[in-house]
Amino acid sequence: MKILLAGGAGYIGSHTAVELLNAGLEVVIVDNYCNSSPVAVKRVEEITGKKVESFEADIKDKAKILDIMKQTKPDCVIHFAGLKAVGESVKLPITYYRNNIDTTITLLECMAETGVKSFVFSSSATVYGEENDIPYVETMRRGSCSNPYGWTKYMMEQILEDAAKADDKLSVVLLRYFNPIGAHESGKIGEDPQGIPNNLMPYIAQVAVGRRDHLTIFGNDYNTKDGTCRRDYIHVMDLANGHLKAVEYAAGNKGVSVFNLGTGQPYSVLEIVNAFEKANGIEIKYEFGPRRDGDLPEFWANADKAEKILNWKTTKTLEDMCRDTWNWQKNNPKGYETE
Ligand code: NAD
Ligand code: UFG
Repeated sequence: MKILLAGGAGYIGSHTAVELLNAGLEVVIVDNYCNSSPVAVKRVEEITGKKVESFEADIKDKAKILDIMKQTKPDCVIHFAGLKAVGESVKLPITYYRNNIDTTITLLECMAETGVKSFVFSSSATVYGEENDIPYVETMRRGSCSNPYGWTKYMMEQILEDAAKADDKLSVVLLRYFNPIGAHESGKIGEDPQGIPNNLMPYIAQVAVGRRDHLTIFGNDYNTKDGTCRRDYIHVMDLANGHLKAVEYAAGNKGVSVFNLGTGQPYSVLEIVNAFEKANGIEIKYEFGPRRDGDLPEFWANADKAEKILNWKTTKTLEDMCRDTWNWQKNNPKGYETE
């Protein structure tokens, strides 16, 4: 089976490429490197010892994508090619709607024209919005997103559902990720944010490596056990394995299926800082700052459905997540710039 990874040079895409190649699948990566580097593709080849077909292209460029799909003939498309910075999406909403929605429609059109019938989509826990009880279950209503990024995910899920309703041969798997962290155990690939990291774990890793002076913890007055926010952190290789299961599932089923990919176990910001310090023997300087706009106090996944239907289960611990993050960061203090 051959899988086209749109945005496959990015953080989750590159780890998924390793997982798919190790399972004996063929991989085609299409990326415009707007938030990644071609070095990541070379590293995927190094880790797996396998060749990856890769193309530099914007997924919004229909003529080019059609050409690539005709040339490579994939059986399934995984769509990672989104812009994902929540704060930036508030400042640049049109850029976010254009990129995230247009890439989805372009892929669907190219699939229709080349007869590709399986689509796996990178969705997010953000679609549950602000009004649902926790833990989140796939059947809960979507909406009340707190930023344009979240709304793009909500809208793309709707577009994909409508597309599947109109074509009974189409199979769509919506994967709602919780908080992916960690890196491949080799330390050769990992998360390489541009500029100041928005997310917690890359920030901690950059404090550890000396690129940032200290972490600011956004709020310690939440109604949680230690006052800091709680999230469902999932190792990126467990997440990558979820994509392998989803691709296999999509090949044998039709219609839309939705799965949460999380561990079901929340940790607070302070627990993450302490776990990183303990796993790696490094002190992380931090101070408390005000709450960040749009942050919810806590949420985590009910991931029973993925376990029952996809036969998927996370295997990595918080210690693994902290150790593998540091292994990547210390070997690549400036990310992929090192080559
Ligand atoms: P990432 O930025 O590392 O990867 C996205 C990749 O897509 C990058 O390589 C980027 O260059 C590419 N890309 C973006 N727009 C493109 C375009 N128009 N044409 C070609 N390539 C394009 O992000 P990631 O963390 O790997 O996330 C992958 C997907 O998962 C995104 O859709 C993101 O919204 C979603 N997601 C991520 C998280 C997270 O915390 N990392 C959580 C939930 C959902
Ligand atoms: N945090 C800090 N300091 C920082 C960065 C983060 O205290 O420098 C805190 C945040 O306030 C939050 C927690 O760490 O309490 C986790 O924050 P992240 O930014 O790492 O992750 P979020 O839960 O805010 O966002 C993630 C993804 C989004 C997705 C969202 C909901 O990054 O793409 O989950 O699924 F939309």
